[in-house]
Amino acid sequence: MAANWKEKMLRSCEMTENYLKDCVAKLSAPEELKEAMLYSLLAGGTRLRPYLCLAFCRLCGGNEQDALPFAAAVEMIHTYSLIHDDLPCMDNDDLRRGKPANHIRFGEANALLAGDALLNLAFESVLCSNLPADLVKEGLAVLGQKAGACGMIGGQTLDLAAEKITPDEEMLLQINRGKTSALIQAACVMGCVAARADETKKQAANAFGEALGITFQLTDDLLDVRGDETKLGKPIGSDEKQNKTTFVALLGISATEQRAKEENERGKEALSCFGPEKEELFLLADWLLERES
Ligand code: IPE
Ligand code: IPE
Ligand code: MG
Ligand code: MG
Ligand code: MG
Repeated sequence: MAANWKEKMLRSCEMTENYLKDCVAKLSAPEELKEAMLYSLLAGGTRLRPYLCLAFCRLCGGNEQDALPFAAAVEMIHTYSLIHDDLPCMDNDDLRRGKPANHIRFGEANALLAGDALLNLAFESVLCSNLPADLVKEGLAVLGQKAGACGMIGGQTLDLAAEKITPDEEMLLQINRGKTSALIQAACVMGCVAARADETKKQAANAFGEALGITFQLTDDLLDVRGDETKLGKPIGSDEKQNKTTFVALLGISATEQRAKEENERGKEALSCFGPEKEELFLLADWLLERES
């Protein structure tokens, strides 16, 4: 099963990358804008979100191809959020996905615009899927909500505001739910939507995504302290430099590790309504605790 899971991850990665490439290639947009979009989109990355979208579609009995425009849309928004996150007015980081950050390579204004263009293209990708109109509408609603003011953008806003204070645990959780869990939840729920899953499954996917997102961010914060820049493809020590209070800063390394494990278990429990094929997601969740990149 373990090998099988990695294979599925690699396959979904390949499917998504081909789709992303095509989406940008066929735009009749300025070449320099397309270049800046593709630079970040195709620089690699965990591709966790598209994988989750395709996996939930499969687990709900759907066809992965149907979920591909949804999966790619979440990855486009994730990539735009990283381009903006690295800007000097945000985390001011120079390295992303093992390459100079978008604004280092193309300049701040072009990086901002490449991010904006990816955000718009994401919604077009969902809209242009071949799914029935009611599912497209539902996918758009989930994406808009999770990527927006009450989701990722809201979380990023709180994350920046928290640089000036010392947030408590509850505040940190709220930040992480917004900036990280929300898009992961979008991926999971949109996969279910593409398979026309019932409400119980969509709610389970949403709860799983929330817990997995917190685990993911806790691991990200741990890696920011003790990771390897070459493996990670982004700078170590960015949080301290930007005066970010993370769980690691607040509780220390071992309490953060413990917390990540607990969140992971909570996520697994949320999947009780799925059949034995959910084992694949359990393996993924365990890998997230040990990841080095
Ligand atoms: C980084 O996400 C931003 C966070 C939410 C912590 P990833 O670690 O998934 O970034 P990529 O896609 O691999 O570059
Ligand atoms: C960023 O969190 C989350 C989003 C981009 C939405 P971080 O600022 O911790 O992500 P990295 O560490 O720069 O990837
Ligand atoms: Mg940030
Ligand atoms: Mg950052
Ligand atoms: Mg980080």
